[in-house]
Amino acid sequence: MGAGVVESDFEFVQLLPVVPYLITRKLIQMTGEKMSVGTLEELLIDELKDLYSAEKQIIRALPKIIKAVSSPELQEGLSNHLEETKGQVSRLEKMGEILSKKMTGKTCVGMKGVLEEGSEVLEDTEKGIVRDAALISACQRVEHYEMAGYGSARDFAKLLGQNEVAALLEETLAEEKNADKTLTAASKQINAQAKQEG
Ligand SMILES: [Fe+2]
Repeated sequence: MGAGVVESDFEFVQLLPVVPYLITRKLIQMTGEKMSVGTLEELLIDELKDLYSAEKQIIRALPKIIKAVSSPELQEGLSNHLEETKGQVSRLEKMGEILSKKMTGKTCVGMKGVLEEGSEVLEDTEKGIVRDAALISACQRVEHYEMAGYGSARDFAKLLGQNEVAALLEETLAEEKNADKTLTAASKQINAQAKQEG
């Protein structure tokens, strides 16, 4: 009987990567929303809406994370990135104006999951340097997720001849890469300190 339990757990773990897809599909079925992405242009709009939702979620989540960290440098870095993120939202709104499309109406399910993992860190750790190390890791997941999204969207925009949109996406991509580098730099000292305290 014990072996049976282990086997069913294993199958569930294997299903985890497709859970966001299954949830999205279920939501589409429930709301009766039709599939609307058939061209590269529609795909670009869809990606931009996804990024818009992701940035809005980050703006809601970051203040709590900033409050939870101990390192003043990390706190400052994250505060700067919060301000930067507000500019990224404006940039996406500008892209919506250029393309005459609304940026609202989509939820980035992936970012929701990544941020939920960040919240777990706050439950699993106490305030201190180990928490800081864990939050850097969580924030870098956010940055990498965004970098993938912005890089793809920029390429779509370039291919479609939407050069102004591509340039705006490139600007944000550079900011995300820079934020990631700042986090890596902060992690060097914080991780070493976390090791000493452990
Ligand atoms: Fe961002």
